[in-house]
Amino acid sequence: MSEETASSPSLTKKKSLGWMEWMRGWSSVFGEILFQRITASHLQNPLPLPPVNDLTCIVTGSTSGIGRETARQLAEAGAHVVMAVRNTKAAQELIQQWQNEWSGRGLPLNIEAMELDLLSLDSVARFADAWNARLGPLHVLINNAGIFAMGEAQKFSEDGYEQHMQVNHLAPSLLSVLLLPSLIRGSPSRVINVNSVMHSVGFVDPDDMNVVSGSRKYSSVVGYSSSKLAQIMFSSVLFKKLPLETGVSVMCLSPGVVLTNVARDLPRFLQFLYALIPYFIFSSQEGCRSTLFSATDPQIPEYWETLKNDDWPVCPFISQDCRPANPSEESHNTETAQRVWEKTLEMVGLPLDAVEKLIEGEKVQCRYGAQEE
Ligand SMILES: NC(=O)c1ccc[n+]([C@@H]2O[C@H](COP(=O)([O-])OP(=O)(O)OC[C@H]3O[C@@H](n4cnc5c(N)ncnc54)[C@H](OP(=O)(O)O)[C@@H]3O)[C@@H](O)[C@H]2O)c1
Repeated sequence: MSEETASSPSLTKKKSLGWMEWMRGWSSVFGEILFQRITASHLQNPLPLPPVNDLTCIVTGSTSGIGRETARQLAEAGAHVVMAVRNTKAAQELIQQWQNEWSGRGLPLNIEAMELDLLSLDSVARFADAWNARLGPLHVLINNAGIFAMGEAQKFSEDGYEQHMQVNHLAPSLLSVLLLPSLIRGSPSRVINVNSVMHSVGFVDPDDMNVVSGSRKYSSVVGYSSSKLAQIMFSSVLFKKLPLETGVSVMCLSPGVVLTNVARDLPRFLQFLYALIPYFIFSSQEGCRSTLFSATDPQIPEYWETLKNDDWPVCPFISQDCRPANPSEESHNTETAQRVWEKTLEMVGLPLDAVEKLIEGEKVQCRYGAQEE
């Protein structure tokens, strides 16, 4: 938890969060656990949605937890929903179940499933190719899928990246960039990243995104919190790079502490304890409110525009109680954010000017998938 300083300021390299930042980070985490039900007491459950009939929304990781509830509510409100999932059979079964439950209450739900495995950057590029080839608009991309392999040993993806970093940050970042042509077609459109208050205890070293150098000891908390902070940093640079005229807003949110399968890796007795404190922990229906709010609230574009005009250094962040919030101090570190941006593009196999080219309507070459020149 020390901040390393060198004699020359240009050589100064921060190695971790300072003590005060670390303490403030953990107090945000415990504050969210203890008080989320009070701060969100003004919200209805389920959250009433504005008209969404004209929206096409992709929801990643919608076979479980927050994503599953988000997809179901958006579809029942009339949106065209695409469940982007690694287990398409499970998604098809859910679709069938929801259609049966919905039958007699209106038109059949407009919902489909497409395969997307975030542990494979090839799969991400193939998904984006398939979607872009439809030449249709995309109004909302919800990067919800995520993992928190609590207490587990460090693992790497087939692409060679630490798994939390890949699933929670690298793969969704690649997806967001590659889907820009469809998002621009659907403008005004939104990229919604389901983040976490745990980003407040995260620290990213852009030279050691996989936490393998030995300068920091790996734990699942380090892996998870770093990936969530990296997502905010990347989103903040994307937020800056996307001109207002594109109409594509990008934001992050905290769903709160939610009882989902995210705790599947906890030892059995801890899972039992987790389930015993329902007063503090949100149900999935409560936990998807900040996602649904970010995806559909009509005031979001105005908020995004205000922050852009004010040259705000971080992307919009919505808290679990659906209010604008300020992410951690470290997420405001624009120098690190820029390096995280560059490193991320390098790791996902995109050129540094990918976003600028896509905005201009040019094609970009990605190292993954079968991107054409
Ligand atoms: N629950 C919380 O307290 C909490 C707090 C803060 C933030 N969040 C965030 O909320 C998001 C949703 O989590 P959740 O709590 O709803 O957890 P969850 O119930 O475990 O759902 C996670 C979803 O992500 C999918 N997923 C995991 N790895 C994937 C991969 N390689 N490719 C494609 N999809 C993959 C899972 O698919 P399968 O169904 O096939 O496993 C599942 O549908 C995550 O980003 C998480 O970090 C959760």
